[in-house]
Amino acid sequence: MRKIIHITDIHLVPEGQIVVGMDPRQRFEQVIQTINKRHADTDYCIISGDLTDRGDIESYLLLEHLLDNLEVPTGLMLGNHDNRAHFRTVLSGIPVDGAGFVQNVVDFGDLRIILLDTLDDENAGTGILCKHRLAWFSARLAEATSKRICVFMHHPPRSVGLPWFDNMMLEQTDGFWQLIDSNSNIEHIAFGHLHITTTGRWDRVSFSCNRGTCHRIALGFGKDSIEFVNSEPTFDIITISDTGVLIHHTAPIIEEDIIAREYSTADGKGRIELLCRDTRASMVE
Ligand SMILES: [Fe+2]
Ligand SMILES: [Fe+2]
Repeated sequence: MRKIIHITDIHLVPEGQIVVGMDPRQRFEQVIQTINKRHADTDYCIISGDLTDRGDIESYLLLEHLLDNLEVPTGLMLGNHDNRAHFRTVLSGIPVDGAGFVQNVVDFGDLRIILLDTLDDENAGTGILCKHRLAWFSARLAEATSKRICVFMHHPPRSVGLPWFDNMMLEQTDGFWQLIDSNSNIEHIAFGHLHITTTGRWDRVSFSCNRGTCHRIALGFGKDSIEFVNSEPTFDIITISDTGVLIHHTAPIIEEDIIAREYSTADGKGRIELLCRDTRASMVE
């Protein structure tokens, strides 16, 4: 089994600044701490874009600094809030393709993870896979026809049924879907960008979107407005095994918030050990 962590939309800003009332750094650090403590056995962690809120050098320097504390191997991708030049200036060691797009593959035995760069430098909201990037994607698929493929990208390549987002997806998707349709070994597509958590299946390919570590958008089916919600940061743990692909949606665990532990017992009833005196009192009542 392979264990992949999907983090997205961390929207870092320079020290002392906030994003819609939230501190992106503090929220991302909660995720890092939980991964280090509870998921150190992760094979690979992917942060799928909107690494920063405004694409400034200072925020990428902050990202570089914070990543020093993340103890699992990590790949970085770009989103529409990012600036490719600034990203590459600071994080110069991150692999890029021959044309400088932040695209890469990571192989684990018979599993290939493909990270795509869908940042459209000309358009703030929508994503693009230009001819070059599409050709690169096609070549990486062609050399891995015997592998299982999992694709990561920032922008969703198809509607998830929420009208507000339908004009901020990947554009010109014909070439992308031709490759998906003609490569039956592609099993899963993971993306971010929407700030909403949703999973499902398009034809034979499953997909997952994590709402990220920064601002959550309230689920709604209207198209005139959206609401930002102050909720806990989240990330997904994707496990890929012989039986399929599983998405475990989760959030940081603050150790002081653990109120009880249950242990298995021979009679099957289990034994609960309460950890917090205040909680014990209220549960007795
Ligand atoms: Fe975002
Ligand atoms: Fe985005």
